[in-house]
Amino acid sequence: MNKNILLTGGAGYIGSHMAVELLNNNYNVIIVDNLINSDKSVLKNISRITNKSAKFYKIDICDDELETVFKENKIDAVIHFSALKAVGESIEKPELYYKNNIGGLENVLEMMEKYDCNDIVFSSSATVYGKPEYLPIDEQHSLSAINPYGETKIACEEILGALYQENNSYNIAILRYFNPIGAHSSGLIGENPQGLPNNLAPFVGKVAIGEVEKVSVFGDNYDTPDGTGIRDYIHIMDLISGHMQALKNINNLQCDSINLGTGKGYSVLEVIKAFETASGKKIPYEICPPRDGDVAQCYANCDFAKQKLNWQAKYGLDDMVSSHLNWIKK
Ligand code: NAD
Ligand code: UFG
Repeated sequence: MNKNILLTGGAGYIGSHMAVELLNNNYNVIIVDNLINSDKSVLKNISRITNKSAKFYKIDICDDELETVFKENKIDAVIHFSALKAVGESIEKPELYYKNNIGGLENVLEMMEKYDCNDIVFSSSATVYGKPEYLPIDEQHSLSAINPYGETKIACEEILGALYQENNSYNIAILRYFNPIGAHSSGLIGENPQGLPNNLAPFVGKVAIGEVEKVSVFGDNYDTPDGTGIRDYIHIMDLISGHMQALKNINNLQCDSINLGTGKGYSVLEVIKAFETASGKKIPYEICPPRDGDVAQCYANCDFAKQKLNWQAKYGLDDMVSSHLNWIKK
């Protein structure tokens, strides 16, 4: 029988791509999202791509109403994407982040226990490594938070770790994403933050299509070859195939934390260059002071993902950038 997979935050950027992949692989998909950072139109586009529908509940995962979802569906596994993720906002409103991200996970786990669901894949982030002590970063790197958003990810990882210690019949995968960018090849779903994006790729995308005049490059004096910050950008579809592998191998995972990146870093200027090549347009930029809290370089060692999940990223920066442009032009 086809498995029922619950995607919390499934209407969001990563969750919507996951829904497409699961539907295409004959899983039944149940999405719970309060649409605080997404739009219902995503659901229609998921159906357009797959010719199938995800079941949708507009529910806040922190509410008691979440029980309805577990009552009405026999959930086989949860992929827990739901979270608030804006670093700046988390500094202004830490309590909101603790309540939403940590409280939300606790509520989901309570329901899983009550309704006998043992499998969960959790969205963590490279932010849990804080300021890198060495590169590339492997999963043994120490954890530290540099903002409340990061604190919530570390706290959630600890909650899952403690749960597994208490009861090892749970199957838990903690996936630490590096910098996911790009979009589905249909151009019907992708990342579309409201207002001016905080993250580099969506911002440069807006400049490429002429919606914004120029990119602000945050610092050119870092200890990197061109002086600008280096990150491990990973194509959204590679990230999704990592989740598929985690789901398929979940019985062999012992609450493992696993990096999902490419292992290769690109500088801000290299990303701008890739957008210029893909769009055929000059992208104006201006060097600005460094952004508070930014690190010079962050990229992953992905050996563990290869070993545990038989997974590695296959797309390069050009694919990421052209798929993003295809999506925003549409
Ligand atoms: P997103 O904001 O596009 O998606 C998150 C979804 O969760 C949104 O649709 C939002 O409406 C929903 N949501 C938030 N709080 C909710 C609540 N209380 N109840 C129900 N729904 C709620 O973000 P994303 O980029 O798709 O990120 C998914 C996950 O991956 C998050 O946990 C995020 O922290 C993590 N992550 C993302 C990145 C990234 O760069 N995109 C990097 C590392 C980790
Ligand atoms: N940058 C600019 N100009 C911009 C935006 C970003 O120069 O307008 C630079 C940053 O200084 C950094 C690089 O581009 O050097 C990447 O910045 P992003 O904001 O795109 O990504 P971050 O690595 O700073 O952070 C993202 C998420 C975090 C998450 C982290 C690791 O925002 O929440 O990836 O997953 F923790």
